[in-house]
Amino acid sequence: MREISKGLIEWDDRWLVGVDAIDKDHKRLIDLINELFTSKYRAYGFKDIRQNAQHLMDYTNYHFEREEQLMKKANYPGLKDQIVGHRKMQQQAAEIINDIDDRENHHLKFTNEAESLLRDWLIEHIVDSDTQISKYLEKHKIIVLEM
Ligand SMILES: [Fe+2]
Repeated sequence: MREISKGLIEWDDRWLVGVDAIDKDHKRLIDLINELFTSKYRAYGFKDIRQNAQHLMDYTNYHFEREEQLMKKANYPGLKDQIVGHRKMQQQAAEIINDIDDRENHHLKFTNEAESLLRDWLIEHIVDSDTQISKYLEKHKIIVLEM
């Protein structure tokens, strides 16, 4: 097993949902969260933390968009709920960025609260929501070549 710095999220194969494109996105999201955490732990400057938070938010938006398209194409019955969940997470991500901006002058760049939110957030997203999508695709024998 490769070494991982304390506090960072290590990918766990139990999180694989079985759709290649989704799994790749989730791994990338974990990398981006870890980059953001690293910039906090190593006390990087405001600009780096802000930039890493932005990268995470941009990729999250991109990933949710792709997932929503996939669910639409597959006529996934839980689409509406998934969209509500996605918007909530996007809202929280925007709040984290606002919070980072607000704290710039106070030299408090990224709170523990935001960190644990992001930690739970991705894992819940994958484990609770996306495994349901992949079960549906499997049941209906829908093969995703790309998304
Ligand atoms: Fe996802």
